[in-house]
Amino acid sequence: MTVEHTFDAVIVGAGGAGLMAALHASQGTRVAVLSKMYPTRSHTGAAQGGVAAPLGNMEEDRWDWYMYDTVKGGDYLVDQDAAEILARESVETVFELEHMGLPFDRTPDGRIEQRRFGGHTREFGKSPVMRACKSADRTGHMILQTLFQNCIRRDVRFFDEFFVLDLILEGGAARGVVAVEIKTGELHIFRAKAVLLACGGFGRMYAVTSNAHSLTGDAVAAAYRRGLPLEDMEFFQFHPTGIYKMGILLSEAARSEGGILLNGAGERFMERCAPTLKDLAPRDMVSRFMFQEIRAGRGVGGKDYLHLDIRPETINRLGSAPGGRAVTAADLEAKLPDIIEMMRIYQGIDPMKAPVPIQPTAHYAMGGIPTDCDGRVLRAASGAAQAMENVHGLFAAGECACVSVHGANRLGTNSLVDLLVFGRRSGRALAEFCAGSALEALPAGAGQEAAGELIRLRESRGSERIGALRAAMQRCMTEHVGVQRIARGLEKALQTLRELKARYGKIGLADLGRKWNTEILEAYELGGLLDLAEVTAASALHRTESRGAHFREDHPRRDDSNWLTHTLARRKEGSCASLVTDGILFDRRPVVITRFAPEVREY
Ligand code: FUM
Repeated sequence: MTVEHTFDAVIVGAGGAGLMAALHASQGTRVAVLSKMYPTRSHTGAAQGGVAAPLGNMEEDRWDWYMYDTVKGGDYLVDQDAAEILARESVETVFELEHMGLPFDRTPDGRIEQRRFGGHTREFGKSPVMRACKSADRTGHMILQTLFQNCIRRDVRFFDEFFVLDLILEGGAARGVVAVEIKTGELHIFRAKAVLLACGGFGRMYAVTSNAHSLTGDAVAAAYRRGLPLEDMEFFQFHPTGIYKMGILLSEAARSEGGILLNGAGERFMERCAPTLKDLAPRDMVSRFMFQEIRAGRGVGGKDYLHLDIRPETINRLGSAPGGRAVTAADLEAKLPDIIEMMRIYQGIDPMKAPVPIQPTAHYAMGGIPTDCDGRVLRAASGAAQAMENVHGLFAAGECACVSVHGANRLGTNSLVDLLVFGRRSGRALAEFCAGSALEALPAGAGQEAAGELIRLRESRGSERIGALRAAMQRCMTEHVGVQRIARGLEKALQTLRELKARYGKIGLADLGRKWNTEILEAYELGGLLDLAEVTAASALHRTESRGAHFREDHPRRDDSNWLTHTLARRKEGSCASLVTDGILFDRRPVVITRFAPEVREY
């Protein structure tokens, strides 16, 4: 039996972007928020170090310095109209959260306290600036809780533990979504005037990642299977400080408070690699320099990891804390309580007494579903080359979207700013769209393909196992589509991923039940991840230059004459009938450049 619901708008995902959009759309619009988890378990809660806004509470700061940093940090692939919005609106957005009750850390005179973060500077790159507003190292957790509580206050309707399987599109317009209720296994169709996708990223395609198990990009994969393009998928960020082998995030805030990176010889190698910003250079550069240290045999004990040192004695000896001030263990415990606990629990090391092993960890997708600055999803317009048009009634925000405000490399803290600023704008645009639109009938057969796929998976009795295929995909992505890439590795990755997709057609599930059948959902997630991994690898092979997080050993230079452009990857067919496809088409879209012409990127 299929249950049908009718709303003005459906939001898929209850992380920061989905909740911010829901808050702003919900006045006068009947909004349903669907989440495959309980909302406060969304991955926004794992964001640690801060949310940027040029408040100037600690030292002088300006929105245009922030915009410049975002554009330069993104290696000039950032759309500068979006970066200007981000930089300007970050201030009012942070104040909006403060007024909602978010418990930011405070200066002695009661203003929001701020800290440094990688790539954030004053006076267009002269020196680091304190721009990240924070709640210790739990900023994302506080944002998520604050937004959720305010959504409850405004009677936003939540459907928790509903897994969205497919988008309903008709004649180029969104009509709703198909979801399965995890508790019962029943299929639900949500009919709506508009749909907003805010399902987060897809870092689970990698073996070593900071991403939660839930980050499988389900709605991104659904959009792709429905023929929509994905933008700039070759750009996947690696955060420098993941816990060795586990990938769990140790916030950049550790370095902002004075921590440093050391190679196996005990050398602070970032002094040589980025003389001005050192350990707080943008992440793409730090991760790449780490990779190169390890490859040159300068890992700790010659192994594949380096050290993060936050011992007070080290910080004080080097004067690496902001302003060269002296720090105590108690200061660090107050500013970095969660990550210090994680190092103690997961690594069994007291970071006040010894450095901890770290390695770059797959962290954030800069690419995703293309949107304009109000979250409207875009696709290539027929006729004019490189022109884009809206997908009527379809919106996206947060990590699953590509505005593109991060370009080739996101600055730390800018994911939270993105989901707040563009979550809010897309929520408002969603409400406006609903106010001016009628609810259309569902297309004939809506939901049938998703139901068929669910039945196929439930009845599959093949010999292939989800866990083995997923592990093989993750190993392949980490080995060949990581911090540094090369054509032959990317070709090998594509071959492996296509073999895995063929094997995916022969999986067998052990759980035959309907209720709480998480195995079937894992199978669904894996199908989507395989598609997204394939697009990521193919896009990385397609872009024959190095820019931001995409470093090609066989094309080590940035090539503005040929590649100062966004890429759009789309499937040859628009049907989701088969998960197995080799055909990916590439288009281009121009980068919006308003204020800052591309420069050589030095830090
Ligand atoms: O290092 C961190 O706290 C992560 C922040 C981010 O990804 O923006």
